[in-house]
Amino acid sequence: MAKIIAGVSSSHVPAIGAAIDNKQTEEPYWKRVFSGFEKSKEWMAQAKPDVVILIYNDHASAFSVEMVPTFALGCAAEFPPADEGWGPRPVPVVKGHPQLAAHIAQSVILDEFDITVVNKMEVDHGLTVPMNLLFGSPKEWPCPVIPVAVNVVLYPPPTGHRCFMLGRAIRKAVESYPEDLRVVVFGTGGMSHQISGPRAGLINSKFDKAFLDNLTKDPKKLTRIQHLEYMREAGAEGIEMVMWLVMRGALEDKVDEVYRFYTVPASNTAVGHIILEPHRRAAKKSAGKAKKPAGKMKRAAARAKTDRVRS
Ligand SMILES: [Fe+2]
Repeated sequence: MAKIIAGVSSSHVPAIGAAIDNKQTEEPYWKRVFSGFEKSKEWMAQAKPDVVILIYNDHASAFSVEMVPTFALGCAAEFPPADEGWGPRPVPVVKGHPQLAAHIAQSVILDEFDITVVNKMEVDHGLTVPMNLLFGSPKEWPCPVIPVAVNVVLYPPPTGHRCFMLGRAIRKAVESYPEDLRVVVFGTGGMSHQISGPRAGLINSKFDKAFLDNLTKDPKKLTRIQHLEYMREAGAEGIEMVMWLVMRGALEDKVDEVYRFYTVPASNTAVGHIILEPHRRAAKKSAGKAKKPAGKMKRAAARAKTDRVRS
């Protein structure tokens, strides 16, 4: 049977993609951001998922404001990078997993979660930037990706609780898929930021760090955050954080935080990142060979907190 082996969340700031594409990753400003993902790439190289389910939002690339589905599931065989105004990013075409995606569609819809099935879709920085951050810049992505697009651009977006429950439904779907697949779920977007209006440039590190803490320890508390609170505390675009709750809902209640990174700013956005594993998997690890790398990751996380977190 398929199983979810981990959840990963990360911001998907478009300027991060531009820094990669323009080969600016070694410049001091960007090195601060990219260095926080070095351990994550090592973790991902060890995790070697068979499939990634990537929760993100489309930024008027695949869906214009004329029609925006609340939740859209990519069921195609492939998803080309979108032209976001300066040509498609030079990243590989994303290969989908139509069989698992169709199974998820059937499972969640019969579970009364009416997701929109999308058979043709281009994917923008919301998906491609987190792929770069966790997999680097290979010629081909190392595994198929099932995109799940969430509307956070046109009012009303779904609630955090609804997103969390979508994660639960996705987990049920994955765990009923007969093939032995190891699946990692990404939740992307955020953290605090506002890109226009009088509060443009808003960053609220205190809110972000509390969100990260509760994502691990008390995600149900996060499901009670209302839209207005996201906007007030984390800026208009901070609402993207509801997508992290899809990832968290796809994991079990008890998880182990394997790694965390937070830095400000990247462009005008706070960058947050976390890797969570089901508790029982970590417990197995502690008894086996993988104990050392996990310890290293935790020490790296502590260093990242000390060195890079600003209040
Ligand atoms: Fe976004």
